Amino acid sequence: MMLHDKPLVFIGPMGSGKSSLARRISAKYGGTVLDVDKEFTRRYGSISDFFAQNGEAEFRKLEENLLVEAAKSDAAYIATGGGAVLSRRGMYALRKSCTVVYLTAPTAVLKDRINRSDRPLKNDLEFTLKARAPLYEMYADYTVDTRVDSVKELERALKTKRKNRYDILLCDSDDTLLDFQKARSASIRAAAEELDLPCGAEACDRAYKAVVCRVWKKLERGEITADELKTERVTALGEELGIALDVDAFNRAYTSEMEKTRFVSDGATEFLRDVCARGIETYVITNSFVNFARERTKPLLPYVDGVFVSEEIGYYKPDVRFFEHVLSAISCTDKRRVLVFGDSETSDIKGGADSGLDTCRLMCSPDTDSAADYIVRGYSELLDIL
Ligand code: S3P
Repeated sequence: MMLHDKPLVFIGPMGSGKSSLARRISAKYGGTVLDVDKEFTRRYGSISDFFAQNGEAEFRKLEENLLVEAAKSDAAYIATGGGAVLSRRGMYALRKSCTVVYLTAPTAVLKDRINRSDRPLKNDLEFTLKARAPLYEMYADYTVDTRVDSVKELERALKTKRKNRYDILLCDSDDTLLDFQKARSASIRAAAEELDLPCGAEACDRAYKAVVCRVWKKLERGEITADELKTERVTALGEELGIALDVDAFNRAYTSEMEKTRFVSDGATEFLRDVCARGIETYVITNSFVNFARERTKPLLPYVDGVFVSEEIGYYKPDVRFFEHVLSAISCTDKRRVLVFGDSETSDIKGGADSGLDTCRLMCSPDTDSAADYIVRGYSELLDIL
């Protein structure tokens, strides 16, 4: 008999019964237990001695590594130490693949339970509780009162709906919800044909692909303006092709084709519908030009709560002023409940992180480094996190 479809991670203060609940649940339902404190002791000796000899900071470093390891283990139940929530990296790794259960009890009960034990921070219980309570709340998928029968309480809680981890999703458009590569290719080819370029549509498309990213990166770094980008992308293309291009004519042809494209990425509509069904607000945040973006995002409008276009705002991702504008426009008061989702490390992830927001990077083959809090290969993995 299975209790839950994912591994369970128990968090909560000292004395909340994380280790004992993990053991009891495993005895009843099967599945292995990984007790992070026990694993620490097995590797490095007594926690009290370690604190006394090496200090708390050193303990936290090793604890963080153990939490990340635990997330990758095949344990069905993971009991953490009371301070696990201090490690953002550890908690994000755990909640990517596990369900997080926060165990609570009144302070007097906790005190009574830990009184006879040897814990280095046991005299700081009230202080640590105050500081950590918001973190326990934030990471908890479920909360379980452990005063009477925590096994029964856990069984009951898991039958209820898990609360959302995020209330607001800020979602990039190109190559996140819309197939930009396809749209760009079609539009560049059409422009090359319309202007009758001697190199042909195919070569023009290849050359554009080779230069355009470099020019957009300059805009992201604030080295050029949006108007300069419009010119520079065409002159760079001309140089790549070894021909002189009429900047205005090329931009006109490209833009008018692009505006007509409606290539929604496979599964994006269903994904947005699922997000909407969970009561999460979704906004499209795109580095783009007004008419262009407003036209192209039309197929997404039934599923999102709004679209923010950088040209309209006057700032481009990753500029924090872009994100500040969005947060203020949607009257968001709690940044911790917002997730930025996008494919670009330099605009979506950097901008989100610089603005103090959680980030999730869409990466088809996650083989390069990313500073994102989460990396997903597709929408279904993101739905698990949300
Ligand atoms: C700690 C709690 C302990 C243990 C270490 C630090 C804390 O775990 O990890 O002594 O910072 O609250 P328990 O919660 O299992 O007592």
